[in-house]
Amino acid sequence: MSELNKIVLTGIQPTGMPHLGNYVGALKTAIERTNTNKTFMFIADLHALNSVHDAKTIREHTYQAAAIMIALGANLDNTVLFRQSDIPEIYQLNTLLMNLTPKGLMNRAHSYKAAMDKNIANGDDVDAGINMGLYTYPILMTADILLYNTDIVPVGADQKQHVEFARDIAGYFNHMYGEVFKLPTPVIGQETGIIPGLDGRKMSKSYDNTIPLMLPEKDLKKKIMRIITDSKLPEDPKNPDESTIFQLYKHFATESEIAEFAEMFRRGGMGYGTAKTILFDKINSFLAGPRAEYERLMANTDEIERILQNGAAKAQPVAAGTIARVKKLMLG
Ligand code: TRP
Repeated sequence: MSELNKIVLTGIQPTGMPHLGNYVGALKTAIERTNTNKTFMFIADLHALNSVHDAKTIREHTYQAAAIMIALGANLDNTVLFRQSDIPEIYQLNTLLMNLTPKGLMNRAHSYKAAMDKNIANGDDVDAGINMGLYTYPILMTADILLYNTDIVPVGADQKQHVEFARDIAGYFNHMYGEVFKLPTPVIGQETGIIPGLDGRKMSKSYDNTIPLMLPEKDLKKKIMRIITDSKLPEDPKNPDESTIFQLYKHFATESEIAEFAEMFRRGGMGYGTAKTILFDKINSFLAGPRAEYERLMANTDEIERILQNGAAKAQPVAAGTIARVKKLMLG
């Protein structure tokens, strides 16, 4: 099959404002794909349910996630953008797949193991705070992927295992009932390496070192000015590869700008304050347009809701087709 005929599926959890690391590591590839491939893009509100138990927050974060994807340039001509929970067939396929998913597979899930490890480290019961939504998360994700006949799933490296589980489960089904499901392929964004946060460690909400994507300009500037640096003086030559400022700049600049900035580090004469201002200007000029569009959409959530409903109307018949086939094979 030609690459361009492949169906792409992207799920985004509505768990609050994504940060620059999320953008570079996952969202960017997913958004670029919408220019070339038919894409099912949904806000995974059911997945958020295992950790967020406040309906209003889920609803708001769902709008936020949808607005961000639109504002960052998801091509709505090729994209069916919808809310996961609006498609009743997802609950059905989830239940059906439960019955051919080995429990042992779920035991191996990184996210579940991480939750257990944290409990053990804290001296708590291993299962403390772990609900079945978290435990069976990969089955619901498999249902997402298989429901829409997906070929390709662009994801961050942390989600690769989940897509591999979807392949496994699709394989079990096909083996038992006949070749129904395509085996999805995870596509990890270009080798981005680790995106550093303000303190130089991997950018992550759990380290509280992130630069959120949609901040008012002056808050973005404040964040960037807070990047931790070493104590080299302005005149000292600096190694760009050891600098968080440079590592972030690389993802938003052209080849020649990157080479020039690296040279300014090596040559000496540029203080970190100046380097941060250059980084701010670069990121800000990238984000200014999306930020305005994001704010416009968030002030018009009715418009977002209309887009999501429109998407649901297109996604649902595809889901219904899959469920009809699966039910017939499993239940007669
Ligand atoms: N688990 C994904 C994340 O946290 C979100 C997601 C849910 C997803 N269902 C999906 C991603 C299906 C790709 C395909 O980022």
